[in-house]
Amino acid sequence: MFFSDHEKNTTPIIPVSPESLPQWLSDKPDSWQNWVQKNNFQAKNHQFCLIPSSDGQIDHILLGVENNADITWALAKLSSQLPAGDYRVDSHWTEQEITQAMIGWGLGAYTFDAFQSEKTFEDTPHIYVPPQLFTRVTSFINAIYLVRDLINTPANHMMPEQLSSVMAKLARQFGANFSEIVGDALLEENFPAIHAVGRASQHPPRYLEMTWGDTTYPRLILIGKGVCFDSGGLDIKPSRFMRLMKKDMGGAAHALGLASLIMENNLAINLRVLIPAVENAISGDAFRPGDVLETRSGKTIEIDNTDAEGRLVLCDALSDAASQNPNLIIDFATLTGAARVALGTEVPVYFSNNEAIAEQLNQAAKSSGELVWQLPMYADYLHQLHSDVADILNCSPEGYGGAITAALFLNEFVPEEINWLHFDVMAWNNRERAGRPKGGEAMGLFTIFSYLETYFLLS
Ligand code: BES
Ligand code: ZN
Ligand code: ZN
Repeated sequence: MFFSDHEKNTTPIIPVSPESLPQWLSDKPDSWQNWVQKNNFQAKNHQFCLIPSSDGQIDHILLGVENNADITWALAKLSSQLPAGDYRVDSHWTEQEITQAMIGWGLGAYTFDAFQSEKTFEDTPHIYVPPQLFTRVTSFINAIYLVRDLINTPANHMMPEQLSSVMAKLARQFGANFSEIVGDALLEENFPAIHAVGRASQHPPRYLEMTWGDTTYPRLILIGKGVCFDSGGLDIKPSRFMRLMKKDMGGAAHALGLASLIMENNLAINLRVLIPAVENAISGDAFRPGDVLETRSGKTIEIDNTDAEGRLVLCDALSDAASQNPNLIIDFATLTGAARVALGTEVPVYFSNNEAIAEQLNQAAKSSGELVWQLPMYADYLHQLHSDVADILNCSPEGYGGAITAALFLNEFVPEEINWLHFDVMAWNNRERAGRPKGGEAMGLFTIFSYLETYFLLS
């Protein structure tokens, strides 16, 4: 794609900072110094300057990388802005930094044009990736492209049956096992909450499952909220809140993206991926406020609001996961608007029932440079989920601390002794940044992957 495996005849890209630029220029010909000045190149982040050779070729490229810059995004604008050709980075970066920068180059080239009739087939620039880094780099790009594509695909093209096909295809690609439970069979197999949320849709609810890896390896279960469209149900969302709800399967996209990372890098993990895939639709058969739902765990849930549907489909998946006695469960969900109010749209919120694991995840976030932020599972708020008629209410009528009460709800379905991480993600960029266009986005995967490699597998 945007990489080449040869270093010969490549144009060097030379990172310089505002501080190092004068020094770098000091022994260069006057014509270069003039050129850099005339182009107003100050070595600010993402600024670049093509230096021509006497025969009209590009001799090399100066790239601004400020001293405190995140190297991951240093090359991210170049892959869409440089002329076609072969390039290499000429830097003192560490292998880890080069890996990140190459991933950023690839992510910067992302476009979503599947539904546009006019496509531009431009010849793209290629960059040299050292062979020993190639798998790592491409695995991240493939995984993040998968996450973005799944989220960006409109809901009428990404219903539970399409999510199922995507997972089946991924399973085939990596020799994993795929199975699913569809429609009324969910009742026979005891997934009543998933069925209740999804039954109003023309697109029957599904429970998707993929397993991969040697059974002697540490057992990891990934769960993703796969609400293919969230209308809110009978508690219908106002239009401005419904507008982006094709992204409500973003948790499922994250689970599949992380699974592909694990499989492509062949981590020594026994992996299981579980996705409750439903549409939260409205019809005569829709579940209602005040209804009491059965769950796989046996606990009964009174519905306060049909828009708090994600936690309902997740609770059956969590009970199923916990019964497999895994070493760790990680769930991903576009679960609450409240998490976005708390930390904004760009910082993923997470919760854990194990402080030691949370500490390790925080360490992993420091080394990966990708922020994730823990919120407390403050048990004293559990009273907000008290129901007069069932075991628990699906959401707090009070409204404050909504990300915490959602996590507390899920926690009721995870036995204390099962290690668990819960990510409440936006899965969407509201603004464009280098390498991160507006639209569907993977959040937290660099940090979680680093945690899995450094702590989950080595402890
Ligand atoms: N999918 C939404 C949450 C969401 C909204 C995530 C916007 C990211 C951006 C979820 O199903 C939902 O509607 N949650 C409600 C819960 C409330 C009814 C307790 C919310 O957050 O408003
Ligand atoms: Zn909802
Ligand atoms: Zn939702």
